[in-house]
Amino acid sequence: MNHLQALGLNGTPKCGRAFNQPLADYITSHLPNPHFPNTLAKDMVRAFAPGKCILFGEHAVVYGHPAVAVAIDAGVEIELSESDSWTIEGMPFESEKHPHISHILNDVFDYGGSPLKIKIESGLFSAAGLGSSAALSNAMGAAVLRIMDSNAELDSVKLARIGHAAEAKAQSGRASPTDTATSALGGCVVVAGNQVRGTKHVFDASMVTPEGERKWSVCEVELPVDLDAWLVLGFTGIGSPTGEMVAGVAKLLEEDSSKYQEMDAIAMITQAGLTALGAGNLEAVGIAMDACHEKLQKIGVSSPELDSLVEAVRPHSLGAKLTGAGGGGCMVALTQHPQRVAEAIEVAGGTPLISRLGADGVRIL
Ligand code: MEV
Repeated sequence: MNHLQALGLNGTPKCGRAFNQPLADYITSHLPNPHFPNTLAKDMVRAFAPGKCILFGEHAVVYGHPAVAVAIDAGVEIELSESDSWTIEGMPFESEKHPHISHILNDVFDYGGSPLKIKIESGLFSAAGLGSSAALSNAMGAAVLRIMDSNAELDSVKLARIGHAAEAKAQSGRASPTDTATSALGGCVVVAGNQVRGTKHVFDASMVTPEGERKWSVCEVELPVDLDAWLVLGFTGIGSPTGEMVAGVAKLLEEDSSKYQEMDAIAMITQAGLTALGAGNLEAVGIAMDACHEKLQKIGVSSPELDSLVEAVRPHSLGAKLTGAGGGGCMVALTQHPQRVAEAIEVAGGTPLISRLGADGVRIL
């Protein structure tokens, strides 16, 4: 997927596993290439940041409730090389067309070095709830940091903070640090107003939103090593800007305060799902995912396309729900039969993407 496609400017490419592609091949082909020479010229840097999948707590996390997210295998890869002129994907680089990238180069790093040739490769569906802009921001931040100083240590917390500020700009000030922290740290991340018991605190984040100041504690959770399950994401083919969905929920809550009960219910389900995940109780995780989908329907963020993919995978899944902002975008199933679930998604008109739970976070390749 090229940069324009990654940002949703050039149609929506198909980036899931083909029907008949063996699972092992598919996974290998979607990981950064370990054989790529790591003796690149000094003036060239490659960085990769994963996408994320929210298992529980999307939308509620914007209001300080907990969310649980895992990094996925697919993500965004950036290559920067010093050049005679500024280009992106072989075209002249116009900063106003690439606000995320310009923000990182100019506002965050005050980059004053040689012009750069920028290449972007994304394995994520765009505007689909998989954190493609967070991954872009983290990979770009890591690459710029390293091209400015080849000895610079990668600071994933700093990158997560940079990405959170950029997301907030794009989401009218209503953005939790979930997407950027999960892509930066990798593994399984819990974001909540207060630290959740059984998690390891990593950093705190805060933001002034139109509904007042919000504070989050960003924590990590060790997943059991022997989890015998896969995530299968199903893209509806419909892009859905997170900012609009988050604003829609804010409006709903303002008009009908009884909907806050659904947020409280999501918080309880999230806690139950997290406990089940930590204990490796996959059946209970699946039940919590199903319950979470029902509550997300009640706050109006599901869609007929999402519901139909969720229904299609249920016979082969432990649980299924929409993931991310909703309205379109993706659903996710937890399953021990990823191939069957991927096929069910394709038959129902979606595009599948298979991942393990909890890939590594942002890194220099
Ligand atoms: C988007 O991936 C998740 C939301 O909860 C928004 C956010 O956390 O900023 C919908």
